[in-house]
Amino acid sequence: MTAPEPHAPPSTRRAARLQRARALERAFGAPRDTADPRRSAFARAAIDRPATPVRVGAAARPAAPVSRNDAKTAKLMNPSDPQPRHARRRSPLRSGVVAGLTVVASLVLGSTASVTAAVTGDQVVAAPVASAAPAMIVGRVVPKIAPTPEAPTALPLPAPAQAIPTPLVAAAPVVVEPCALHAFADALAVRDDTAAVAAIGGAEDFRRAVAGGLAPCVDLADPARLWTVINKTRPLTPLDYRPSALAMPQGVRSVEGGSLRADAAAALSAMVAAAAAVGVGEIALESGFRSHTTQETSYGNQVSAQGVELADLSSARPGFSEHQSGLAADVVACADGCGTLDDLAASAQGQWITAHSWEFGWITRYEDGSTPITGYSPEPWHLRYIGPELAKAYHDGGWHTLEQFLGLPPAPGYLG
Ligand code: DAL
Ligand code: ZN
Repeated sequence: MTAPEPHAPPSTRRAARLQRARALERAFGAPRDTADPRRSAFARAAIDRPATPVRVGAAARPAAPVSRNDAKTAKLMNPSDPQPRHARRRSPLRSGVVAGLTVVASLVLGSTASVTAAVTGDQVVAAPVASAAPAMIVGRVVPKIAPTPEAPTALPLPAPAQAIPTPLVAAAPVVVEPCALHAFADALAVRDDTAAVAAIGGAEDFRRAVAGGLAPCVDLADPARLWTVINKTRPLTPLDYRPSALAMPQGVRSVEGGSLRADAAAALSAMVAAAAAVGVGEIALESGFRSHTTQETSYGNQVSAQGVELADLSSARPGFSEHQSGLAADVVACADGCGTLDDLAASAQGQWITAHSWEFGWITRYEDGSTPITGYSPEPWHLRYIGPELAKAYHDGGWHTLEQFLGLPPAPGYLG
């Protein structure tokens, strides 16, 4: 620890600034620039990542000046700095969102003192939220409050405080509102889901933001989105929704002549070709897009055959099927002829699909053991397209239901 400063009143304004700066530095240290140009501002926000402990005190770098007063003070503190510094507002455009840094609490070694401080050089103040779940940091935009010469921090610290060992503090992550990121908002506006996921820092950051309730601009009910969640409590909107671009998957045998949304069709073609290329065998499309009317017939047939209770475990009611979004594919294994849906799991194709379908943007939507969440019996043949980025995050995270992946409640049955 450095020796305490003398507490004699400053004799000049220059000396007063210097003393004030040193007091600030002793109290708060300096914010560290954690910016990484390879990552988005949201990624840098390090949502629910552990904070890095940093030491504050005389050893820390001086804080960047935030006002003319502070700029002058910084110049005094670092006379070797050849560049004159002026009060600047960080542009929100630089990282998409203005970032602020708050030192919130300190763990004082060997004592019980704690320090709470907010550094409000820019427009955003970090507000850590205590939670049993992974720590979430949220931000709020606040007006800048210019420091005054009579700021309390200019007072010399009492002698007992000088004796407190240099504390370790957790540097609160930079704070952003994901929906305020221009690149994210722009991608959402033009309905480029892949770009939106990239703009927010990647699929895992996207997932965390959505599941953590930090991205209200992401509509999980929009059936045209890759991340749409359709289940027994979340019907398609409108109930007779029909995707605009349907296509037949090229190079894929279609048992019922089904189509898929164009991007899903291309992804199925790629997956089927890859399986064939590695010698797994042929995979065919049994059933792809189903209209509201088709689903009505299909569900009605199941009800006639098994009754409502069993039908509801295997067939969605019209307006509640992922097939109506064009993003679901029931697939079967074929040799000369094609097997049934029930035959898939035991086939080489079925096992390969379990291991590799995520690489092509597909997940197995109704897994064994997930009925209390999905509301359906296991369907190893029912694949749902969510795009390669989200599917990788789903796979890497070991998720088993889309509901859990995106922080939604279970949907074991229909409401009402
Ligand atoms: N078999 C699934 C649940 C459907 O009908 O959409
Ligand atoms: Zn299906």
